[in-house]
Amino acid sequence: MIRVVASPNIAFIKYWGKELSSDPARVNWALNPSLSLTLSKAQTTTELEFLELGQDSMTLEGHSASEKDREKIRQHLGRICRAMELPVPVAIRYQSENNFPMAAGIASSASAFAALTWATLGCLLGQEEAEKWIALNKRRVSEFCRWGSGSACRSVDGPYMLWRDDAAELQNFPLKLRDTVLILSRAKKTVSSRDGHQAALSSPLLAKRLAGVESRLAQMTRALETHDLKVFGQLLETEALEMHEVARRGTPSVEYWTEDTRRVLSAIQEMTDRDFYFTLDAGPNVHIISERDVSGELRALLSKLGIVAELWEDKSGSSPQYL
Ligand code: DP6
Repeated sequence: MIRVVASPNIAFIKYWGKELSSDPARVNWALNPSLSLTLSKAQTTTELEFLELGQDSMTLEGHSASEKDREKIRQHLGRICRAMELPVPVAIRYQSENNFPMAAGIASSASAFAALTWATLGCLLGQEEAEKWIALNKRRVSEFCRWGSGSACRSVDGPYMLWRDDAAELQNFPLKLRDTVLILSRAKKTVSSRDGHQAALSSPLLAKRLAGVESRLAQMTRALETHDLKVFGQLLETEALEMHEVARRGTPSVEYWTEDTRRVLSAIQEMTDRDFYFTLDAGPNVHIISERDVSGELRALLSKLGIVAELWEDKSGSSPQYL
């Protein structure tokens, strides 16, 4: 039996829009490179066992997994076994739990697929061999994760990951950033990111975004390398607003924000001389990226606005670990 823990990540430059291709090698192939911060406190813990007979048993968050989730897990695991040229198990026991609220606007699919990838390799090779193999084949492992969910390919290491084409690689920046999430809503997303990626393709703003994203990435990389938090922050916010505008202008139009999202964002934008900056994933919750602990200021802001919200205070993290 293998036990593994993996963390999700928050994108600074977003993966929004993927190729329409029937080639399995190009599944979840992003239209643009993306840059992210791997978290540490938010974790998915997965247990996996290969069984020689019997039937699959799959539990997610303490409940028997849905048919759709079983299919995704089976497919991902099977694909890794085949890629490793090793036999697919007759049956499995799979159990996975998150220590963070699933609908907190923290992408649980990234940590879930990173954990499942590590667990599958652990079951196939044995934990010690798997650790060695992963260390020697980092890009390949990132690619395996991508097959499950695009953003998962960036959860293979950290703190900073750059995903380009098939896989993501570690970046070295001299600053330590944290992510404080304002959980404004715990409601399940109205549109999955999978459907959001699809709708983005019809957005008239997508072509312009794609034409400018490389330059934004280069500027952001420079800002992070030179420890220029202000320039980084401005780029971070422009990027998040752009992603949501692309989504809004697609067919169908995808709106992830709520009234509270709008109020919080405008209040933050009005604050002069900030040293913390916002971004958002495919959801209404606001992620605040900063170097120092800004939870006090954020609580004060929420209370001034009369918004009741929980804070999820996270820090930077790294690769999944066997337990
Ligand atoms: C807005 O990785 O969840 O969080 O590849 O279809 O599983 P699939 O999508 P997913 O998309 C993440 C979208 C995002 C931006 C990002 O993480 O880069």
